[in-house]
Amino acid sequence: MTNSAPVAWVTGGTGGIGTAICRGLAKAGYQVVAGYNNPDKAKNWLETQRADGYDNIALSGANLVDYEACEAGAKEIRDTYGPVSVLVNCAGITRDTTMKKMSPEQWHEVIDCNLNSVFNTCRCVINDMLEEGYGRIINISSINGRKGQFGQVNYSAAKAGMHGLTMALAQETATKGITVNTLSPGYIATDMIMKIPEKVREAIRETIPVKRYGTPEEIAHAVVFLADKQAGYITGANLDINGGQFMG
Ligand code: CAA
Repeated sequence: MTNSAPVAWVTGGTGGIGTAICRGLAKAGYQVVAGYNNPDKAKNWLETQRADGYDNIALSGANLVDYEACEAGAKEIRDTYGPVSVLVNCAGITRDTTMKKMSPEQWHEVIDCNLNSVFNTCRCVINDMLEEGYGRIINISSINGRKGQFGQVNYSAAKAGMHGLTMALAQETATKGITVNTLSPGYIATDMIMKIPEKVREAIRETIPVKRYGTPEEIAHAVVFLADKQAGYITGANLDINGGQFMG
């Protein structure tokens, strides 16, 4: 059953930043499909969204690291709601440790989840976008893909790679009504940030010119802006939202 609302697929939709993005896009009139990893968490999450009046948010549990599973997930979204017109790649994990201690598993897990999944989702929606002559792809990268971060060779590499993909795909799709952009949040008040040891976290906060963490809603606001039809002349760009912590 499809309805006429344009479809937005938000990977990592049940996460801290992802939730705000889903709600922002739902408010803007999209049929939102939120990707998740943990089924129990996702079930409760959806109940919360319903209780808060978001009837146009649904779930997709496709494992984005596995190309075939991602393809099946994308097909299910298309068959149920229609072709994806906005793809937000927000699924991401950290496995922070210094290079001298990092295991190959910690490297691969982060590259798979934070970068290879972006190839998979883009590859699975791009032909529909080309056929429709319209699309918005927004890749949620990180300040740490721009400047590097002590303890994050894996994460910094994945997030920098994301912007390379953005710029290349933006060129491939520029004449086809499709825009591809990167959004690079700084330190946003989510569970991911709370995993950083408090002393380290506080030291980082001191280096942020605005002297506070960002909010998920501040990221969502920019996603809704980039997703809008009127943002059609912005492509291949990176938008930094980091309280002035990195001005590159
Ligand atoms: N720059 C330079 N030196 C540093 C440093 C830094 N930023 N941080 C720590 N060090 C030094 C320490 O002073 C210490 O030096 P000595 O050995 O001379 O005493 C040495 O490096 C070891 O540091 P730690 O004791 O911190 O080492 P550890 O193994 O206990 O922890 C770590 C390492 C896990 C990487 C920890 O430092 C950490 O969690 N850092 C924060 C990483 C981070 O910012 N992650 C972001 C997560 S949120 C996110 O990723 C979202 C996003 O997009 C922004």
